[in-house]
Amino acid sequence: MINIKEIKKQLEQANSLCELEALRINLLGRQGVLNSYLKDLKNLPLDERKKRGEELNLIKEELECIISKKIEAINRSLLLERLKKDSIDPYLPPFPINIGRMHILNRVINKIIHVLERLGYEAVEGPEVETEYYNFEALNMPLHHPARDMWDTFYLNNGKLLRTHTSPIQIRAMEANKLPIKIIASGRCFRRDNPDASHSPIFHQIEALYIDKGVSFAHLKGTLEYFARSMFGREQKVKFILSYFPFVEPGAEVAVKCVICKGRGCITCKQTGWLEILGAGMVHPEVLERQNIDYKIYSGFAFGMGAERIAMLMYGINHIRHFLDNDLRFLNQFKYNLED
Ligand code: PHE
Repeated sequence: MINIKEIKKQLEQANSLCELEALRINLLGRQGVLNSYLKDLKNLPLDERKKRGEELNLIKEELECIISKKIEAINRSLLLERLKKDSIDPYLPPFPINIGRMHILNRVINKIIHVLERLGYEAVEGPEVETEYYNFEALNMPLHHPARDMWDTFYLNNGKLLRTHTSPIQIRAMEANKLPIKIIASGRCFRRDNPDASHSPIFHQIEALYIDKGVSFAHLKGTLEYFARSMFGREQKVKFILSYFPFVEPGAEVAVKCVICKGRGCITCKQTGWLEILGAGMVHPEVLERQNIDYKIYSGFAFGMGAERIAMLMYGINHIRHFLDNDLRFLNQFKYNLED
């Protein structure tokens, strides 16, 4: 007969996983004690066989239970011993993990692009080092045209220049694309401006161009109203102020209700209640004609804006320098995505 008491004692005394495993094999293994009793069952009369069988199964379950508890206990004491030796404090909080995130300016640019992509615009880019042709001439500013002074330009030695705006991409799109054209161009621009709170020699522009049959100023207005509402809230109002850019006719400066004072008047909007955020207009027939686009059939509009200005207004940022400084105290304020 199985001496269960004795077995339990042995199990209790085992203090290594090895010892325990040897006992387990001896008791519950295929050639083990329990199995040899089970094999003998067939020699017993039927009713006794049933009773004995049940007994043996109970013993088997009990032993399995004891063994697995014992394994757990041994593992736990091994871990505690190891922790004591290695002097690890498992309760120490982990180091904070600094996950990188996209720069706030890029996030604003992406948001603007997404808003316009919903209207079917396709995002494109162009070179930062441009020729006078793309930056000025093709945009209806021949050499010596006084309007070139509107942009203080960095000229390079090789007759090239650093683009002063993203409008040259309009020309490249007209050259490359079949009509209709519906693009949004963004990228770095450069001007020899004196740096101040809202001017930096390096900044970013975003520009849209739409050319098709029958595009009118009304389409431009509708697009910019949708744009302003998507960026600054559903209630946002848009105002067009007549302005001049050589490559559009008519040209306009577009303003939104001041996002800081909601139109009441403050220092940001210089007490006017309005903030100019972009330049816009109908593409000048001269510009279309130069690219062999028949201006009697096709018309288009364009608008362009400074990404920094939009971001500054959205987040109440008071100096353009912050975008370039890489100061983590500034950057870490924008932890979440714009959609969050
Ligand atoms: N490129 C102009 C600027 O830099 C902005 C603009 C773009 C105006 C498109 C009209 C149309 O000031």
